[in-house]
Amino acid sequence: MRKRVGVLISGRGSNLQALIEACKAPDYPAEIVLVLSNVPGAAGLSHAEAAYIQTLTINHKDFATREAFDAALDAALIQARVELLCNAGFMRLHTAGFVARWLNRHLNIHPSLLPAFTGLHTHKRVIEAGVTLSGCTVHIVRPEMDEGPIVAQAAIPVLPSDTAETLAARVLAAEHRLYPHALALVASGAVRIEGERVVRTTQEGDQSPLFSPPVSGAL
Ligand code: GAR
Repeated sequence: MRKRVGVLISGRGSNLQALIEACKAPDYPAEIVLVLSNVPGAAGLSHAEAAYIQTLTINHKDFATREAFDAALDAALIQARVELLCNAGFMRLHTAGFVARWLNRHLNIHPSLLPAFTGLHTHKRVIEAGVTLSGCTVHIVRPEMDEGPIVAQAAIPVLPSDTAETLAARVLAAEHRLYPHALALVASGAVRIEGERVVRTTQEGDQSPLFSPPVSGAL
């Protein structure tokens, strides 16, 4: 049975679109049953509508407290019989109560190699810090922003010529591959969450280190 997924968005929705595309594969272990935005008219809603996925806008400004907003989110997700929740550019902090209700069934994507560079303006801060590798992370949601057990990461070299915009574009392209991969790992049961770690049984693929700057010649 494909896991029933709810996606929370606040804006552009390019990661949502990547998940929608992935779900088209007949053997993909998840299907998106609801896309929920806290921002009326968020561009990402149109991706869901084009794919005939149910959409809902719950504007946080209509609620007096975070608790009341999160309770409305929760009710909508339960009504749609959502089993797994994916934040895809959802720019609201959840209450601890909401996180507890969706504990270990709730993913987020962040455009850095966590635990480094949580929060906003990630790429600008990455460049200012002078690191030579950045990337993106899909993790299990915990009450602290951009923290929680790591499901999957992709590393992207930071180039000397990079601006926040050029780095963001390359990281975003990796996000679009990483999120479907990570959701498949969780939805299929290929990984399990043990405390604050995500445990996997196999490690396939390239095992070689990624050097940045690159190593050339016989070094
Ligand atoms: C993505 O880069 C995502 O990683 C980031 O917001 C962007 C949303 O783009 N999320 C965070 O920074 C969470 N802390 P999208 O709406 O096109 O998917």
